[in-house]
Amino acid sequence: MSADDQKRHAGEAAALRVEAGMVVGLGTGSTAAWFVKALAARNLTGLRCVPTSEATAELARELGLTLSTLEDTPRIDLTVDGADEIGPGLALIKGGGAALLREKLVWEASTRCIVIADTAKVVKTLGAFALPIEVVAFGHKTTANRIADVLADHDIAMPARVRMAERGLVRTDGGNLIYDARCGVIHDPVRLADDLKLITGVVEHGLFLDLADEAIIGTETGVEARVL
Ligand code: A5P
Repeated sequence: MSADDQKRHAGEAAALRVEAGMVVGLGTGSTAAWFVKALAARNLTGLRCVPTSEATAELARELGLTLSTLEDTPRIDLTVDGADEIGPGLALIKGGGAALLREKLVWEASTRCIVIADTAKVVKTLGAFALPIEVVAFGHKTTANRIADVLADHDIAMPARVRMAERGLVRTDGGNLIYDARCGVIHDPVRLADDLKLITGVVEHGLFLDLADEAIIGTETGVEARVL
């Protein structure tokens, strides 16, 4: 079974957790897109959906889902989203799609969060996937130096690199930049998360700790649910 089939299975299984009338947070990325499609296909009444990116908003709109915002619906019943890595205790790295800030805002406003993924995303230790860090554009090179100091303090020698696209610097939906930190192994995710947040100019990082309540992993044979 391909990774994409596994992602589809996970998305479809998560869509079955949604009930009519719920406020639902819609994640970003290829796995979350499968969830959005499966959710739309269920045709549940009274759903209001809060997207975590412009890309997800566009997909959800095309599929006829009713969109809302955190301003109009500040409390979300259930958010379903993908991840780049799922570690022990459902600690996550997210932000490969540059949507980490809106994702974290929506996750933190949610009563329940389900992370969906293919089996390749499950890891014993976080860090092989480069950790995305969202940074304000003003003075970003100075901020990058301070990020490098924090990384060095965590035995991570490689400085974070600004994410580029064909046309130049990648911009998030909020107009910020993304730095990717090739950590290799993150020995203490809680301390790293705290230290990064203390840097002026860092808006958010892709460590999602104590936020996921459950993981639904697409496997060769179907899906496997892991509760925190
Ligand atoms: C978006 O910013 C990310 O957090 C995605 O949820 C993550 O990169 C997983 O994406 P895929 O589902 O496409 O692998």
